[in-house]
Amino acid sequence: MRIVLLGPPGAGKGTQAARLAETLGVPHISTGDMLREAVRDQTEVGKRAEGIMKRGDLLPDALISELVAGRLARQDCERGYVLDGYPRTLEQARFLEEFLDRSGTSIRVAVNLEVGEEEILSRLDKRRTCRGCGAAYHLDSSPPRLPGRCDRCDGELYQRTDDLGSAISRRLEVYQAQTEPLIRFYDDRRLMHKVSGSGPVEEVAARVLAATAGARS
Ligand code: AP5
Repeated sequence: MRIVLLGPPGAGKGTQAARLAETLGVPHISTGDMLREAVRDQTEVGKRAEGIMKRGDLLPDALISELVAGRLARQDCERGYVLDGYPRTLEQARFLEEFLDRSGTSIRVAVNLEVGEEEILSRLDKRRTCRGCGAAYHLDSSPPRLPGRCDRCDGELYQRTDDLGSAISRRLEVYQAQTEPLIRFYDDRRLMHKVSGSGPVEEVAARVLAATAGARS
């Protein structure tokens, strides 16, 4: 199972990708999480990414594709994976297609999570993220058991710098200009499934699972 999850910032890609990956028993690969880890650890990539992410811009295609190619080459990806946040530009999508083609594989299904802008803004405003394990909470719909602490690892919860101020509108602009064209890219390949990302997390999860069912049979 090689699955791509698409959708605007805050659509619920991370939330749904984690659940879907666990259900299917494959890794959840999130470029956003990989980059936030790199920033936290102040690696070379992290130092380069920090300012770009804070502004809500994208990292260069070549850098991110190299990072993803290294991750997909690992053994735990042999049976598949759920990609969250990659590809994000047409160049990345073409790179991925060619990269997989070289090993005789391909993306089996792409799911686009559709959520209205008002809902997105409210989700980003109320998201809190764990510094330790990256888990995302929502102050109303999925609050942590103890305020400010992660249920899983007891890490500190914080508000992402790109969930504040002008970075939000920049991320939405970048999404529309650079990532939305991927819907057409995967539509042309008859891989695209559009799913409503609104409603309770469990209901969205059931829709996402149903959308991928054809590719799993
Ligand atoms: P990334 O981390 O990928 O950010 P994003 O795409 O903007 O997505 P988000 O993480 O904001 O949202 P999500 O859709 O995962 O929603 P979530 O499940 O958390 O990337 C960050 C940055 O890294 C980029 O801006 C860029 O700089 C860089 N980057 C990453 N990938 C790159 C690439 N390929 N190329 C170049 N640069 C790259 O949910 C949001 C909130 O809503 C949470 O609080 C959650 O609890 C809540 N929620 C989820 N589902 C529901 C529901 N059904 N009902 C109510 N609340 C819900």
